[in-house]
Amino acid sequence: MGIVVDNLQRIREECEVLKMTDKQIKEIMCRLHNDLKKGLSRADHDKATVKCWITYIQDLPNGKERGKFLALDLGGTNFRVLIINLGENHFDMQSKIYAIPKHIMTGTGIALFDHIAECLANFMKEHGVYEERLALGFTFSFPLKQLGLTKGVLQRWTKGFSCSGVVGEDVVQGLKDAIARRGDVQIDICAILNDTTGTLMSCAWKNHNCKIGLIVGTGSNACYVEKTANCELFDGEPEKEELLINTEWGAFGDDGSLDFVRTEFDREVDVTSINPGKQIQEKMISGMYLGELVRLALVKFTRMGLLFGGQGSDLLFEGGSFYTKYVSEIESDKPGDFTSCMEVLEELGLSHASDADMAAVRYVCECVSRRAAHLVSAGIATLLNKMNEPRVTVGIDGSVYRFHPHFHTLMCEKIAQLVRPGLQFDLMLSEDGSGRGAALVAAVACREAEQGS
Ligand code: BGC
Repeated sequence: MGIVVDNLQRIREECEVLKMTDKQIKEIMCRLHNDLKKGLSRADHDKATVKCWITYIQDLPNGKERGKFLALDLGGTNFRVLIINLGENHFDMQSKIYAIPKHIMTGTGIALFDHIAECLANFMKEHGVYEERLALGFTFSFPLKQLGLTKGVLQRWTKGFSCSGVVGEDVVQGLKDAIARRGDVQIDICAILNDTTGTLMSCAWKNHNCKIGLIVGTGSNACYVEKTANCELFDGEPEKEELLINTEWGAFGDDGSLDFVRTEFDREVDVTSINPGKQIQEKMISGMYLGELVRLALVKFTRMGLLFGGQGSDLLFEGGSFYTKYVSEIESDKPGDFTSCMEVLEELGLSHASDADMAAVRYVCECVSRRAAHLVSAGIATLLNKMNEPRVTVGIDGSVYRFHPHFHTLMCEKIAQLVRPGLQFDLMLSEDGSGRGAALVAAVACREAEQGS
């Protein structure tokens, strides 16, 4: 018994590196604030790690948008096609998920766009709109330098994608070309947007305080409403007072500014990823990496003889075998109950785990997910303080936020502690932001075009 208690105690001590003190969190906020300012500034933008791209979406929905729209959603684990009917105070939506095979994720850009266009055409056939000419909003959740609402140049791939020939190119053109190569469907691409933007738009349709969009899913990122006067790179119509900025905060830390809180596990996740040195903050927060961070810690503690009697399993030692959904499942167990934890460990070939091992595994999960929630909170509090508006709603989507049992509560507590006194905020789950948001952006673009004509 003494040894067991001792092991858990030692694991707790080892996990101290995963905790960020209030002082460290304040320092992170200060650095992020500076990086946001650099991203927005004409002089520093090129060197900035947090790029703060202008989205060219200047009008939030006013609830009066109507009509039938198509949407594409590419950027998480799946790719989806949607058809959305916007009516008075309601909308109906049908969608289909298509897999993106690994060889396409890492193949050529042409093959990727051909695949997307093929899924789109099949979807239109299945939904009886193959012959119609429809407007489409394209949610493309990777860092884009937007040159207009329908022109965006890919800056880098993230989240396991690495299709050749797309970085530096206009993604809308890539899709248009693929549609033209098929020659069978008629589509007007009205807008390209990020999933954070879609999330914000879809919440703003109902809630006019929604001025931040956040994703904590496969990747992580936030967008927010900024005063045009602070956006030095904006060269469009000056009459708009506010712009929507896609921060691309996943890249925060790429210049070493998070090194003071990174651990050996973070460095290992980074060097074994397909984009080493890139998306450093994202690798500490998002669903693509949280499970792997836990696994690396468990491997270390097993090798130290502190877990599983020093006996691992082939799967435990295999990269990527500990899914992020396991973290949510394990933390969903009631205190003292290890039902889900046991199931996960059995799946990993670790059925010899004792109760003390399970308590330790759960503790490691908690440390990793808490740190993620605290980093996200630091980011959101930085944005809230910068915006300095009395009450802001944050629209949120993504598998980690949606399925982790404590992420929402952890964020509420931490943001409340970090935000300037007097500022109020609400965290709102966005129902299908990327899909509905894309249709809404397309609808707003059409509304504007009609009003303009
Ligand atoms: C991408 C962002 C995206 C985020 C969430 C990141 O990897 O760079 O554009 O918003 O993932 O999907």
